[in-house]
Amino acid sequence: NSKKILILAGDGIGPEVMGEVKRTLGWFEKRRGSGFETEDGLVGGCSFDKHGVPLTDETMQKAIDADAVLLGAVGGPKWDNLPFKDKPERGLLRLRKDMELFANLRPALVFDALAEASSLKTELVKGLDIMIVRELTGGVYFGSPRGIETLPNGERRGINTQVYTTSEIQRVARVAFELARKRGNKLCSVEKANVMESGVLWREEVQKLGDTEYKDVQLSHMYADNCAMQLVRQPKQFDVIVTDNLFGDLLSDCAAMLTGSLGMLPSASLGAADKGGKRKALYEPVHGSAPDIAGQGKANPLACLLSLSMMLRYSFDQGEDADLLEKAANNVVAKGFRTGDIMAPGCTLVGTKEMGDEILKEL
Ligand code: NAI
Ligand code: MG
Repeated sequence: NSKKILILAGDGIGPEVMGEVKRTLGWFEKRRGSGFETEDGLVGGCSFDKHGVPLTDETMQKAIDADAVLLGAVGGPKWDNLPFKDKPERGLLRLRKDMELFANLRPALVFDALAEASSLKTELVKGLDIMIVRELTGGVYFGSPRGIETLPNGERRGINTQVYTTSEIQRVARVAFELARKRGNKLCSVEKANVMESGVLWREEVQKLGDTEYKDVQLSHMYADNCAMQLVRQPKQFDVIVTDNLFGDLLSDCAAMLTGSLGMLPSASLGAADKGGKRKALYEPVHGSAPDIAGQGKANPLACLLSLSMMLRYSFDQGEDADLLEKAANNVVAKGFRTGDIMAPGCTLVGTKEMGDEILKEL
């Protein structure tokens, strides 16, 4: 029962960092003697250049059929002036939509050796390890009515609507509760029930799950504005945070900067579980295609490698392998090997490939 992985390296530094992911995946395959069946596909600008669309129906179907999808990054100045429907980002949005990936997992993890790079005081972030679960397919970004209309008095009005149903809240909350069980057993649910009806429903539904299926998980609730404050005041108070699409967008970017570098941040997007418990899943670094350094062999592959680690952990239940890879990344950075984005005085500057070499040595 080999596992099918679709690899979509994308544009810019995507293929560079994905090269190191493939080498590392090869190492794990050899070690376990078990099969990963990998296939490469195109997404973003490279797909537009070859096929005239940022994602073909064929590749979309392969993503749906795969056990997991690994994505590099899409976009770049070459494609900036294309019409909206052809833009590289549309390929990524279609993947998320057609795979129905409703739960976006954004860890904010600080390697000890990098704690000084944080925008906060070192002691506030040293050892930080939190996970934000953002609802990804509902809420105000998708709710209707939406649009811009002209009122009788000639004024114009822009409308978006925050909508959540019980099932949308429950399914993302379940993902978060399950994650909490595998981590510190603590979940903080974030909304603004004080001023939003959808927030009232959100809080009620999450609490119901906490009172029934997940009594063992320590559940708390927090207003989103307070959560933003707490994230920069005392981030280590959190373990898993679950929140809606809009608040999750803001809070995950805020939490990301606690860690200091975009080149270190992985993510996962998960869909519904099938009968066997398997979820559709897409793993990708948080960073983009970094056109300013693309093609120079300078990109930090760690965000993409940590995304691979999330894949091993969440799609394939290979938690030990994930731990091993994360430890290797930690050690390599602790030994002072640094790409330009995380470079510090006294450290050894390495490129993408050398960083990959060091990870393999460490493994
Ligand atoms: P970006 O994340 O590509 O780059 C921002 C800055 O961080 C740049 O200075 C870049 O050199 C640096 N950086 C990013 N990843 C790095 C890595 N792994 N190692 C070392 N340095 C790294 O964001 P930007 O510049 O706003 O967007 C560039 C392009 O990427 C645009 O076309 C944008 O639309 C696209 N993009 C794609 C995303 C995706 O595929 N998920 C996400 C964000 C942007
Ligand atoms: Mg954002």
